[in-house]
Order: sequence, then structure tokens, then C-alpha cells
Amino acid sequence: MSNGVEREQWASKLGFVLAAAGSAVGLGNIWRFPYITGQNGGAAFVILYVILIFVIGYPVMMAEISMGRKAELNAVGTFKKLRGGPWVLVGWSGIAAGFIILSYYGVIGGWTFKYIFSSFTGLMEAGAAGEAGNFFGGFVSNTVQVVGLQALFMAVVISVVYKGIGEGIEKYCKILMPGLFILLLVLIVRSVTLPGAGEGLAFYMKPDFSKLTGETFLAALGQAFFSLSLGMGCMITYGSYLNKDSYIPGAAAQVCVLDTMVAILSGFVIFPAVFAFGLEPGAGAGLTFVTLPSVFSQMPGGAIWSGLFFLLLFVAALTSAISLLEVVCAYFIDEFKWTRHKATVVMGIIIFLVGIPSAYGLTGNLKVAGKDFLDAADFLASNVLLPLGGLFIALFVGWLWADEAKKEVTNQGDTPFGLTGIWIWICRIVAPVAIGYIFLSGIGVL
Ligand code: TRP
Repeated sequence: MSNGVEREQWASKLGFVLAAAGSAVGLGNIWRFPYITGQNGGAAFVILYVILIFVIGYPVMMAEISMGRKAELNAVGTFKKLRGGPWVLVGWSGIAAGFIILSYYGVIGGWTFKYIFSSFTGLMEAGAAGEAGNFFGGFVSNTVQVVGLQALFMAVVISVVYKGIGEGIEKYCKILMPGLFILLLVLIVRSVTLPGAGEGLAFYMKPDFSKLTGETFLAALGQAFFSLSLGMGCMITYGSYLNKDSYIPGAAAQVCVLDTMVAILSGFVIFPAVFAFGLEPGAGAGLTFVTLPSVFSQMPGGAIWSGLFFLLLFVAALTSAISLLEVVCAYFIDEFKWTRHKATVVMGIIIFLVGIPSAYGLTGNLKVAGKDFLDAADFLASNVLLPLGGLFIALFVGWLWADEAKKEVTNQGDTPFGLTGIWIWICRIVAPVAIGYIFLSGIGVL
């Protein structure tokens, strides 16, 4: 209950699955996954990644969803209600992580607007002239424009969250997620039918087990965690709007499968196209915003393919950004009795303002500990706050809340889940050890 009003709920189980998959499927799936796969042994990495998603990601996701559904509250309120004491800090760290991630996610979301429109107004010409790198450099150093586009992206995010769970987030995700799948399929067909696509497919799909090392394991687990939106109470918050008789093990499995499918399929868009035109699969932002425009510029009808690709990226970023804003707003709505309208507008604007240094930092004039501001913010959230959050969530469910957790995932025994015992032991031992290891290596201790 908030503001004396009945807590909102997802109108359908499909609505929850699509909204949670919308959160999970983001920039991480479309540019980061294909790239790190290429660097880490292709198909061998994919096999390892899928195992980690199901052995560690899936159990932690079930832990988050069941806590949220039980408490019917935001991340902080959930810890307060289920146990209290220092555990509330885990909730706070989650809200902080949501705040930080959205601040720079909004900046990159703004880039997708620029690239959708530029596909038809100059980006292809720049790409054809080998100038895609300069185009990108020129764009990001124009802070006024970058901030303007960031504001526009945040305004779209605010307008969806403003409308609430069923009428806002669920309704938009039900349109956007199928749209994203269609765009992805269209782009795959284009990419794999290019002459010379086979080399890219070989690069992506040939398993090279000799490249699997300790570092690969780390890369795979870190990616799995970020990609599933775990460790900051996002799934606690989305779970808190879930109907009491939905089957949590089934819903969580669907979210994991959808997220993994989109990640793997994105590789089928990127590698065949990049190799068909004899380019190198470069890293991160460079691959997406420099290499791909060059690839599109060499295809017949390139502007259309480029426009569609950046639209795909925009949709993926939007549904993830929505979940990040919802985590923060749910906290202010539940704990301070703010109205949803006030929470979305006030917090949306504050997060936008906090993102401005990330936008300005792209000019190279603002560094924190030797990193661009945006990269520093990403490091703090992804390498510190998320793993710590995930670690404590797993420990909490495994050691302090196991009996309740078992009841919650089986709907008080009405819908049995055969792996309940294994799930609890993964939360107790396997997940904390694995996550602790990513955390210590992420901050350079191991
Ligand atoms: N999962 C998203 C991606 O792959 C990013 C994201 C959205 C996220 N919400 C999150 C990551 C919550 C961690 C926690 O890009």
C-alpha cells in the first residue's frame, strides 16, 4: 500500500515477463555481449556464459523476485520489512546504483537518437568516406547537443514511468519488446545473407576452448549479472508488482531465456556484417558507433539498415532505462509517500542533471581517477555496487530467509519447484563465492 492506494500490479504474467526482459535486454546485450564473445573464444564463451546464466544468474533473479513479491515494496522497504538492521544498506546501495547507472545510460540513450536521424542525414556519407570516427568524435565533443539529446531521452523515460506499472511500463514493453525482436530478426537476415558473411559466422561460432581462462570466467559472470539487471533490487521492485499466484521459477526462466537469446542473436547481426566488409571487430562504443556505421555505409540501402539498427538500440536502452527509473521512484513512492507523478518528474530531472558530467566528460576534459567521468560512474556501479548487492541478496536469501523463500517460490506449496533445495544452496555458497570473486578481481584485488 502506498498513499492509501492499493499497490499497482502487472495486468498479466506476460506483462511482467516482457517488462523484466525489457529491463534485462539493454545496451549490454547488443554491443557488449558480441564483442566480449569474439574476444573470448567465440562459441566456447557462449557455452560458458549460458551455464553461468542458469547456474548463478537464474537463482539470484529468483531470489530478488521472491523477496519483492513477498514484501510488496521497493528495494529498501523490502529489506526493512523482511529483516531490518544493516540489511537496509543493501537496498540503499541498490537505489544509488540505479541512480548512477541511469545518469549515464541517459547519455548513451541520447546518442541513439542522434544516430537514428543521422543515418539519413550525413552518417552514411561520413562512413563511406572513412570518416565515421571523426563523425563520432565531433558529435560527442559538442556537449550542448549531447545534453539536449540526453534530456529528450530522459523525457521519454519519465513519460512512460509517470503513467505507472500497468498503463505505463507494461503497456509500452508489450509493444516495444516484440518490436525489438522483429527488428533483430530483420537485421540478422540482412547480415547473414551478405556476400562474405561466412567468415564472421566462423569467427563468432567456432569454439576455441584454448581461450577459456580465469579471466574469461570473470568476463562471462560479470556480463551475465549486468545483463540480467541483477544486484540493485531491480527485480525486487518489478517482483513487488507481481501477482501472488504467478509461478516465479517459470517467469524468471523466461526472462533469462529471452535475455540470453537477444544477446546471442545480436552477434549474428554484428559479426557477419563487420567481416563481410573486411573490418575489424573493435571494442565497445567504437564497434557500435564507428565500425557499424562504416559497415552500413557500404551496403545498398545502408541508411535504412543503419536507421533500423539504431532504432533497435534505442528500444533496448529505453526499456532498461525505464526499469532503472522505476527502482528509484518506487523508493520515494513507498518510503516518503510521494505521488508517482512527483517521484518520476523530480527524480527524473535530478538524474538527468547528475548525468551532465558524464556527457561533458566525453570531451576529455573531466576525468575521475584517470577515467572519463562516464566510465568512472560505470565502474563504480557495475564493478562495485552491483556485485556487492548481488552477493548480499544471495546470502540473505540463502542463510536468513530460506524457509520463507521456499514458500514464496512454490506459492506456499501449491506449485512445487523441484530445484528448491539446490536453489537455496546456490544462494548460500555457489553464488556468493562466484560473485565475491568477480568483485575482488573487478576492483583489482585478485
Ligand atoms: N540489463 C541492462 C543491459 O544489459 C542494464 C540494466 C538495466 C541494469 N537495469 C539494470 C543492470 C539493473 C543492472 C541492474 O544493458
